[in-house]
Amino acid sequence: MKNFKFLIVVLSILFFVHCEKQIETHLETFPLIPIANSLKETGGAFFIKSKTILYFDEQDASLKKTAIQLKNTWETHSLQTLTFNEGIPFLHSKIELVKEEFESDEAYEIKISKKVIQISSSNEAGFYRAITTLDQLLRFQNLSSNHDYLPTGVISDMPKYGYRGAMLDVARHFFTLEEVKKYIDLLALYKINNLHLHLSDDQGWRIEIKSWPKLTSYGGSTEVGGGPGGFYTQEEYKELISYAQERFITIIPEIDIPGHTNAALASYPELNCDGKSTSLYTGTEVGFSTLCVDKEVTFQFLDDVIREITEITPGPYFHLGGDESHVTKEEDYIVFINRTQDIILKYGKKVMGWDEIQSSDLKSNTVAQYWADAKNAQGAIKKNAKILMSPAQYAYLDMQYDSLSPFGLHWASYISIKKAYDWIPEKLVEGIKEENIIGIEAPLWSETISNFDELSYLAFPRLLGYAEIGWSQTNQRNWEEYENRLIEHGVLLDSLSINYYRSPNIPWKE
Ligand code: ACM
Repeated sequence: MKNFKFLIVVLSILFFVHCEKQIETHLETFPLIPIANSLKETGGAFFIKSKTILYFDEQDASLKKTAIQLKNTWETHSLQTLTFNEGIPFLHSKIELVKEEFESDEAYEIKISKKVIQISSSNEAGFYRAITTLDQLLRFQNLSSNHDYLPTGVISDMPKYGYRGAMLDVARHFFTLEEVKKYIDLLALYKINNLHLHLSDDQGWRIEIKSWPKLTSYGGSTEVGGGPGGFYTQEEYKELISYAQERFITIIPEIDIPGHTNAALASYPELNCDGKSTSLYTGTEVGFSTLCVDKEVTFQFLDDVIREITEITPGPYFHLGGDESHVTKEEDYIVFINRTQDIILKYGKKVMGWDEIQSSDLKSNTVAQYWADAKNAQGAIKKNAKILMSPAQYAYLDMQYDSLSPFGLHWASYISIKKAYDWIPEKLVEGIKEENIIGIEAPLWSETISNFDELSYLAFPRLLGYAEIGWSQTNQRNWEEYENRLIEHGVLLDSLSINYYRSPNIPWKE
């Protein structure tokens, strides 16, 4: 009798487990941004049961790292615990991590069947991108009150460009570590993998250099408008790098030379040709400052700065700026860029610089960041440089959306959400072809913004468009279809309390 009761209980559990509701789903119309290379729906539902078991090889350290990241995402959004390799398979949901070779580092596949979710990639970065896709799936299911299931089907995905970046100017206005981390979280959600930090300019020096301490104690003490400025200690910078690394985002430090250097020139009189320090500057003019080419101390200074920063920067690039050096003689400019490239190479990094650097002797592996002058970019290509696409007329996040925008400038263009999305990097400029381009980057200059809400107003939602331009295949991109997905991301950004621009041209949801 006892055994019979036990059997009834077991059969009831089995019945309960296997008789789930029939739900029709549509993975293919899921509002992923960036859109995946291939989304194939099978129309069913993977029910998220109490507790989930994650199967993976615990001997593999990289899979263990992925497992921990997945556990965070899964538990946050599914509200079910995730255990590693233990539990009763037929009672709980199942996820498997599978290592498999793919064409590119960040490629991945997610197969969602009724019984199991299988996630495959060849490495941690690819698994991480898969987790961000799953993250969006779970968030959107929750936002539409479908907490307890995911649509079934197969997502196969890999990026168009290996470099998908954002740049943040922390020099004109300083942004705190917490603000930059918040930005990094959002970049990661949209598969952006580089954050270029503009760490010095006329108005402020924002990273501690131990051998030249006044750069920050004095040169970092103000900002545009005369506020208190600020800077990152090297420990804080390292903390930021680790935070970004956990999200597979590389930090690229920029020290802008030989122009845009007033904060350094104000801090150390010996860097000036006349031996007198300049005053701190809190305005927004550009092109009035320059380091002094005739003084060897200038190059000792640059060596120290680049040595200290590269020592704590694991990423491959150091960005030397090189833009708008209007008061540097052309022949001096060339000496600056050539000698600084040598210092950067000596410390084991590749050189990145704004497109003006093409007038110097570009070293192999140097990247020219195209922002304004097509001739410069074409010249850089002739010198075998690769191009990072940041055309100011399309990709500058600090351009106003229209004449009513409370923040931003418009010297390059007004950039509506549609204009930001609706361009093709390899079709924009004669002579810049797909094989010349390493990727795209959206710079956010901070003359007009001084806190996170203002930053996010300019960055969002345009940044989502840049994320998709960098990741998705060109033939998958279409404004009308994108706009529908973007509207859903408005809801997502609302759920995160992100202040973004709700253009009246887009029928946002309430
Ligand atoms: C720049 O906008 N000056 C690169």
